[in-house]
Amino acid sequence: MKFITRPSLKQASTARSAAPDLLVLPVAGKQLQGEAAQWADGQCAGLLADWAASGEIDDKPGSVLLQRMPKGSAFARVMLVSLGKQAAAVSDKDFLDATLAAGKAALAGKAGKAVFALHQAAPAQRDSAWALRHTVLRLREAAYRFDAMKSRPAPKPALHEVALVSDEAGDAAVLAQAQALADGIDLAKDLGNLPGNVCTPSYLASRARKLSNQFKLKCEILGEKQMQALKMGSLLSVARGSAQAPQFIVMHYNGGPARQAPQVLVGKGITFDTGGISLKPAAEMDEMKYDMCGAASVLGTMQAIAQMKLKLNVIGIVPTCENMPGGRATKPGDVVTSMSGQTIEILNTDAEGRLILCDALTYAERFKPAAVVDIATLTGACVVALGNHHTGLFSSQETLVADLVAAGRQSGDTCWPMPVDEVYGEALKSNFADVANVGGRAGGAITAACFLARFTKAYDWAHLDIAGTAWKSGAAKGATGRPVALLTTWLEGRAASSAQEVRGTKTRKRKA
Ligand code: BES
Ligand code: MN
Ligand code: ZN
Repeated sequence: MKFITRPSLKQASTARSAAPDLLVLPVAGKQLQGEAAQWADGQCAGLLADWAASGEIDDKPGSVLLQRMPKGSAFARVMLVSLGKQAAAVSDKDFLDATLAAGKAALAGKAGKAVFALHQAAPAQRDSAWALRHTVLRLREAAYRFDAMKSRPAPKPALHEVALVSDEAGDAAVLAQAQALADGIDLAKDLGNLPGNVCTPSYLASRARKLSNQFKLKCEILGEKQMQALKMGSLLSVARGSAQAPQFIVMHYNGGPARQAPQVLVGKGITFDTGGISLKPAAEMDEMKYDMCGAASVLGTMQAIAQMKLKLNVIGIVPTCENMPGGRATKPGDVVTSMSGQTIEILNTDAEGRLILCDALTYAERFKPAAVVDIATLTGACVVALGNHHTGLFSSQETLVADLVAAGRQSGDTCWPMPVDEVYGEALKSNFADVANVGGRAGGAITAACFLARFTKAYDWAHLDIAGTAWKSGAAKGATGRPVALLTTWLEGRAASSAQEVRGTKTRKRKA
């Protein structure tokens, strides 16, 4: 889908080459909202205002009314979209829901070119860049299809060009950044949706290589021998039951000054989690193909920031393997030695995510990171705690918590702080090794985070448990692409503040 801007609706309707056949306008409390809607209403003697007032559209954000316009009108069709009861009270969620619903309705119709002016009724506290970015993101979300595994792909929707009514100076850049982010989110969804027999550790490695070639990233992929040489005994213990070889992917994006400490992302890449010898029950086990969504979010974020040309150094690390039962598989009670030297008693082979992450977190030390964020579908307990709305955020570093929470609000890809204090870590005592890989049932998401914390003493660190947010179950089963938007927004913030620091030192130097 192509996105363009038009300075006014008048201009959009007269530009011959771009004569659009659908106009999408906001309504709140039965009244048209924004300049575009007022202008269009003037063109048809108040017909649109009548429709808005008619009660045909529900007050619920996302209710739509699609009408054909009389002959001779500037637009063939108009879609009125409700943003709620009151224009002054439109929330982020109302706006995002309404835009998604409008996108779905537009994509289901016959129009090839549309003009969207919903952002003229965006939440009062948000600026136009926010509204434009989220319009693009929601429309791309509505347009996302996964038919890589179908023998015949569904026919393409008619809608292929969307014009947004706006004449702000930075519009072109806003659209480009939004599309870069949407591309990153789509990549994460695609990787998540691929089945475990296609999306194997070596498949992830090949996609990482491809991405790195496309965007000129430095990419290293370590095989089993190299992991052995690095003494990644914990990671390797998870891979033992599988016929698929484990891979360790490291991608470097160098958009910042050479001496700038990198931000490091570490994503859990279990391409299928059977539970291992501590086998999971059969029901819904298919969903464990999504157990690499942390890895997918790292690849998606690397793609987004590279395409954005973000001025920041970022390293993406993906430890990836399958968790399978087998004659060589790790057994409950086995003790392994992690790269950090700490020994781990594996009481439950289904708590494998932390076992691959801990070695990746130790590996990350060599980069002297400014911060490390790991992303993992780590625990069912996190789904119990937070449901499917917020990602669990675990960190004892206050700035990181504040920045990630803020990036979540800004992007609509939210996270919620959870505790990680030492007291919970006591549940991980082992009679036979330095630490056990599971605590009891109580506070399972927190004890998992406490396990990881033992390997992250050398730098500022946050952990995102995306078990509840990375995919949807049920009829709309599929990967959500979360938390690519959260991570990208957070990194954009880091790039902006490091640019400010650079400017600060330069002016100080000049003064001296
Ligand atoms: N990948 C799962 C976590 C998971 C479960 C994500 C359900 C999404 C939905 C993870 O590897 C796992 O199996 N965790 C165990 C840990 C337990 C054995 C301490 C869990 O949550 O049951
Ligand atoms: Mn598991
Ligand atoms: Zn898992």
